[in-house]
Amino acid sequence: MTYAPWKTILQKTLENNIKNRKDAVFTQLATTSIKERPTVRTVVFRGFSGETSSGDNDPKVTSDLLQFTTHVDSTKVQEIVNNPWCEVCWWLPETNEQFRFSGKAYIIPSTNHTLYKAYPELDAHFQNFSGSFDWEQERVAAWRSMSPGMKASFAWPKPGAPRIEEDSVFIPKVEEGENQEYLVRKSLDNFALLVVVPDTLDHVELSKKPNERRVYVKNESTWTVEELNP
Ligand SMILES: Cc1cc2nc3c(=O)[nH]c(=O)nc-3n(C[C@H](O)[C@H](O)[C@H](O)COP(=O)(O)O)c2cc1C
Repeated sequence: MTYAPWKTILQKTLENNIKNRKDAVFTQLATTSIKERPTVRTVVFRGFSGETSSGDNDPKVTSDLLQFTTHVDSTKVQEIVNNPWCEVCWWLPETNEQFRFSGKAYIIPSTNHTLYKAYPELDAHFQNFSGSFDWEQERVAAWRSMSPGMKASFAWPKPGAPRIEEDSVFIPKVEEGENQEYLVRKSLDNFALLVVVPDTLDHVELSKKPNERRVYVKNESTWTVEELNP
């Protein structure tokens, strides 16, 4: 698998942005609704799969897979199951750059969830690695890295459903080792990874004069890059 040539550029840009802007990890994820309309929402970039957390997966593993997290009952999950093609549009304000990724999204829920599937095709996206990537390990490690407040949100009533429950069910915190076994289980069961496999990146640099724009396209396993008019 060839190394994605845009990865070190994105990592450097993100590093330069995050120093002053914690919100630099907010991206916009576009999918297609069940009624075939465009739909977009903010999601937090959690890192590249395999590199994000300290599970038992080898810490030297790297990948070009963009990792996000979501509630398995959220509307976007159904949309992705129905049509995995998506875009991630990411503006990085400190450096005035836009990264617009296009590709396929994968939902990785708990292994006992009806949507669970093995995706052996994702294994080729990891470097320093052979075999079959342990996605459940990755998922649990990603859940453990969440704050107690974020963990709690995955144990709340179904997202997007009419609000009929009392406020008290929207518990503020969930944590392991706090006698909250039922809530921990519920939160973990609803927690899913959302992994984007980009096959195109449109990178615009507005800080350059004149502005610069490059498009990276993946054919089979090889990335090509072409300079475009901005
Ligand atoms: C700053 C910010 C960050 C967010 N991060 C996430 C996220 O990482 N994952 C997620 O599923 N939703 C996140 N949300 C909520 C989504 O934007 C969206 O409202 C929710 O996921 C429901 O979307 P859906 O109905 O299209 O599934 C975030 C919202 C904001 C405002």
